Amino acid sequence: MINIKTQVGIIGAGPSGMVLANWLKKHDIDAVVIELRSREYVEGRVRAGLVEQNTKDILKELGLDARMKKEGIVHDGVYLSFDEERVHIPFGELTGGRTITIYGQQEITKDLTDAWLQEGGELHFETMATKIVDFDTKRPKIHFEKDDEEGILECDFVAACDGFHGIGRKTLPKKSFHSYDITYPFSWLGILANVAPSTDELIYAYHENGFALHSLRSETVSRLYVQVDNDESVDNWSDDRIWSELSQRLAAPGFDLEKGPIFEKSITPMRSHMIDSLRSGRLLLAGDAAHIVPPTGGKGMNLAIADVKHMVDAFVAYYKTNSEKLLDTYTNDALRRIWRAQDFSNFMTKLFHKQDAHGSFTYRLQKAKVDYLKVSKAYRTTIAENYVGLPFESFKN
Ligand code: FAD
Ligand code: PHB
Repeated sequence: MINIKTQVGIIGAGPSGMVLANWLKKHDIDAVVIELRSREYVEGRVRAGLVEQNTKDILKELGLDARMKKEGIVHDGVYLSFDEERVHIPFGELTGGRTITIYGQQEITKDLTDAWLQEGGELHFETMATKIVDFDTKRPKIHFEKDDEEGILECDFVAACDGFHGIGRKTLPKKSFHSYDITYPFSWLGILANVAPSTDELIYAYHENGFALHSLRSETVSRLYVQVDNDESVDNWSDDRIWSELSQRLAAPGFDLEKGPIFEKSITPMRSHMIDSLRSGRLLLAGDAAHIVPPTGGKGMNLAIADVKHMVDAFVAYYKTNSEKLLDTYTNDALRRIWRAQDFSNFMTKLFHKQDAHGSFTYRLQKAKVDYLKVSKAYRTTIAENYVGLPFESFKN
């Protein structure tokens, strides 16, 4: 039996778990991280790419933004395309200089993991948390399995940063929260391709064939997505078919889509999931463990890291001033931003996906919104400020 003792026991070495571990260290609060997967798996998992302003500010504050500043690509706007006509949303101009950066989630996780391990932080890969107990006492425990051996991580608090399939949410007492779900009737087929991006900023497009998104990872790697049916298989999507659909859906006067070798293809379902309590006693949840947004607004990872900011504030208040006030307000402090992001992600999803026959009432409402965008600076500002992420101060009571 392995026995470990710490102040904050963290389950999950994704962005939320690793930001939390590094941030607590800055405040001399001890933490131990346990992660189900191997380091190679976590660092190779292709996920988010859009880093909003608050996340950049947090990584800067932690002194962990050096590589992102060097290799990330700053975007000052986004193109929104509808039936082959594009509207440009200039972020800086509409939000007082706030921007986004394109930098892969796995690169952020790698930077955070490197920093944590270099500073002597304890992180157990290939270790599965099996049970969280005693979180209604002052000494909760995480039971885990590592190399066929059982262990107990005893701590003051458990931070469940263990994603949608983790044990954190499943452990919350059923009566302590409500959950809310939407399953969208479409999915995203995402690709990574060795080809220079054909655009200087992201393009979200509604087309009668369905949604498409042109994103990127670097000057030589493009990341693109197409809307597909929920029961689709990547086997039905040859490289030629993908490029042909992307070319049609992203079309605009004077625009040519460069094609290149595809080296990653996967299908992601689209869902919104929400629970209205992120804490029970000394068990606190952050990130995908507590909420899922459809990826159309690029919010998932950013929200996960925003939750952690509130969690760190709560732990610092507890350890430095013996106050439980911010632990008590953790759920509500985090929920205000989460609901805002749920709404924005749902809005972007409904605006740009094909939901009904081209020309239907739903289509006409979508088009009316995009036509309004063309004439209203207020509406463009609404999109811009949500897209780059509202400052933390906006959500204060
Ligand atoms: P995760 O990254 O899921 O990390 C949880 C960790 O916990 C995992 O490493 C897991 O192995 C571990 N774990 C689970 N169970 C256990 C256990 N029992 N014991 C130990 N460890 C366990 N977000 C954005 O902000 N911008 C984007 O552009 C964006 N694009 C996306 C595109 C796609 C295709 C997808 C799928 C997602 C996208 N997201 C985006 C969402 C984003 O990737 C997630 O919201 C983010 O990974 C959440 O981070 P997390 O730390 O909460 O959870
Ligand atoms: C990505 O680059 O993977 C990405 C960008 C924007 C989104 C979703 C995903 O809205």
